[in-house]
Amino acid sequence: MILLLALLSVLSGELGLCLEEDGGFTFDGDIRQFAMTSNTLYIATEERLYQLSHDLTLINSLTQRGILKIGNQQDDVQFYRVSDTAEWNATFSINVLLPFTKNDSLISCGVTDDDCGHCEVLDLKNISNLLYREQIQVGPLKSSSRSVSFLVDVKKKTQTDTYILTAIQQNKEQYENDKCGINQQTANLQDTDNKQGGGIFSLTDGASGTPGIKSKGDVEFVDGFQIKSTIYLFSNVLSAQTNRVRLIWLEGEKSKTDTLKSLRGATLSVSDSESSRLVASSVIPGEQPVLWSGVFSVDGGDTDTELMVFDISPDYSRNTDRDPDFYTSVPSEVTPKILKPKAVIVRQSYMTSVLAVRQNAWMVFYIWTEDGLLIKLSVDRNYHAACPTVLYRTSDDRKVFLKLHLDPVDHKHVYVPFRNQMKRVPVSNCSMYTNVQECWSAQDPYCGWCGSKSSCTFEDDCTDSDWLSIPDESQHKMISHKVEKDTNGQISLKIHTHLTVGQKVSSDFTCQFSAISGHLCIGNNPPRFPQCTCYLSDHTLPPDGLHVTVKFRFGKILLLEQVKLTNCSDIHGPPTSILCQQCIKAGCGWSRNSCSWANQGETDESVCQKLESGKNFSVSVMLFFYCSSDTLSTSGRAFNGRRRKLF
Ligand SMILES: *[C@@H]1O[C@H](CO)[C@@H](O)[C@H](O)[C@H]1NC(C)=O
Ligand SMILES: *[C@@H]1O[C@H](CO)[C@@H](O)[C@H](O)[C@H]1NC(C)=O
Ligand SMILES: *[C@@H]1O[C@H](CO)[C@@H](O)[C@H](O)[C@H]1NC(C)=O
Ligand SMILES: *[C@@H]1O[C@H](CO)[C@@H](O)[C@H](O)[C@H]1NC(C)=O
Ligand SMILES: *[C@@H]1O[C@H](CO)[C@@H](O)[C@H](O)[C@H]1NC(C)=O
Ligand SMILES: *[C@@H]1O[C@H](CO)[C@@H](O)[C@H](O)[C@H]1NC(C)=O
Repeated sequence: MILLLALLSVLSGELGLCLEEDGGFTFDGDIRQFAMTSNTLYIATEERLYQLSHDLTLINSLTQRGILKIGNQQDDVQFYRVSDTAEWNATFSINVLLPFTKNDSLISCGVTDDDCGHCEVLDLKNISNLLYREQIQVGPLKSSSRSVSFLVDVKKKTQTDTYILTAIQQNKEQYENDKCGINQQTANLQDTDNKQGGGIFSLTDGASGTPGIKSKGDVEFVDGFQIKSTIYLFSNVLSAQTNRVRLIWLEGEKSKTDTLKSLRGATLSVSDSESSRLVASSVIPGEQPVLWSGVFSVDGGDTDTELMVFDISPDYSRNTDRDPDFYTSVPSEVTPKILKPKAVIVRQSYMTSVLAVRQNAWMVFYIWTEDGLLIKLSVDRNYHAACPTVLYRTSDDRKVFLKLHLDPVDHKHVYVPFRNQMKRVPVSNCSMYTNVQECWSAQDPYCGWCGSKSSCTFEDDCTDSDWLSIPDESQHKMISHKVEKDTNGQISLKIHTHLTVGQKVSSDFTCQFSAISGHLCIGNNPPRFPQCTCYLSDHTLPPDGLHVTVKFRFGKILLLEQVKLTNCSDIHGPPTSILCQQCIKAGCGWSRNSCSWANQGETDESVCQKLESGKNFSVSVMLFFYCSSDTLSTSGRAFNGRRRKLF
């Protein structure tokens, strides 16, 4: 199932400028950390910590400058933030930023100028209010570190406890800093409040000591999250000979020790290259199986990157704590489970971030590239992609490993963190499509034609639910037809509409067939969405075909389509793929190297690909034709600009 994509078209500079003026926020200093709740954004830069509303309005910000007081005892060291204008002699740089919604607090941890860890717990609603502070290490001490940290829930007998999971990049050459009493392993669980026993941020697990996951070699962490009770951690295990992309599953149950000891691992098999590594990832929302998308560097460099989808559902059949790279007590020489990709979605240079979301039956991938493009790619459940569009572009080249997020309130904007700026880019501009055909041809799962407003809109902007949108599976045409002939010589025209409509609209669906010759259909065949049928009164077709007009009604929406009915046996000649395509486009069927009635042959165009030996149509070539076809070039803004090759 290797797929897709030869071509990407890029917005003209003009449109780029137009978006530039749209929502954005410029920070004091480059963005270091970015976290979100259901309505608020928290951004840490080198200089300040910001609290913004979902539409990027500033609520509050704090300086990262303060006073570092060093007493006689090691635990006498404290960092105090000062006001913007006060004297200061130290800074606090944040490497871990975790909104703890259940506790109405924001956990921010990092390092102060003495190279020691520092943590603050702030009021989630107003970050000016400090709830707690401590000199302690949570997460990495270096901001350049590729590490991950997130909150996990561990289910116990009577309650569920929340811990901070940190998975910290390990590098053998890294200098050891023991001056601050650092005692962290590769993956750790730390408390989030005093009630859990050893004090807030404690690593210990009661009498069971200090559990942790160790790693054998150099490792960097790319992503991590929890779904139900399973915790997922993605890493690159690096060595001079080979790199491995590793997934660890943990079960968040019973205790810290049990959770960490429950580790099971898998290796993601990406390519034959021994230097492949994971660059960025995003879980694809949905129920079972757990689907996840990853951007991989095939050769370890920046240029050759691919976006792939894996099924990462946990496999609990293997023994726990038996892995060659990660262990709580001793490493084991076992071969881990191998996971192979379900699909390769796109090959494109310089991809550095991805966000996957679901929109109706479609998956939508937002991809940020190092050369400054935000690309949107809609993919159906069979992993067939619609044409990609560029939502935003900047000429400023810079690697961004920060995650992309969707606006948690309206779900209609993507946040793009970039240097010292946060952009809020609309996911679609449906209103630019001015008729049903254009709206449908955009193949954008966010956009549909709203009958009551007579415009192309988001679904929730269409009040009467007479919203007509693309079907669940990728289609090249809104309406297709088939010409069939039964054993009695009865010819029928079957029209299939490739649309998704609301319940109300589908019950208010009619088709009306007409031709110049007048009387066309016999009998009464009430349409059943998405199909309608006409049994022709004539048993012969004119040699140059019969032009039929079909009027559709979907609630308030009226559509008119012209269909040409052809005598399928008139399409004849040497059995080339061109003849085959001509046959299927005419609504006929391909059978035994010739064209016959639709009910007597194959009606899927893919059958034609097999015909031309030596000129096999690859999927990407087909997409080239599809993406640059006339209907699309007039409707999609992405097709007006300069074209750019994707490979
Ligand atoms: C910073 O200033 C405070 C108070 O002015 C002082 O007590 C402290 O020793 C200074 N710290 C450093 C690291 O110079
Ligand atoms: C919230 O956190 C504070 C300190 O960070 C702690 O004292 C308090 O017990 C926590 N509250 C809840 C409800 O967990
Ligand atoms: C946040 O708290 C501070 C101090 O308690 C107060 O001065 C400020 O007005 C509060 N800000 C907001 C936005 O509520
Ligand atoms: C959306 O499209 C309309 C019509 O083409 C245009 O006027 C408007 O500026 C576009 N908005 C954005 C944000 O691109
Ligand atoms: C189709 O064409 C063939 C010969 O070209 C003819 O025999 C047949 O009757 C035609 N069928 C119809 C339905 O017109
Ligand atoms: C074209 O595809 C067919 C079947 O998919 C295969 O047998 C044939 O070898 C291919 N031809 C070339 C030139 O790749």
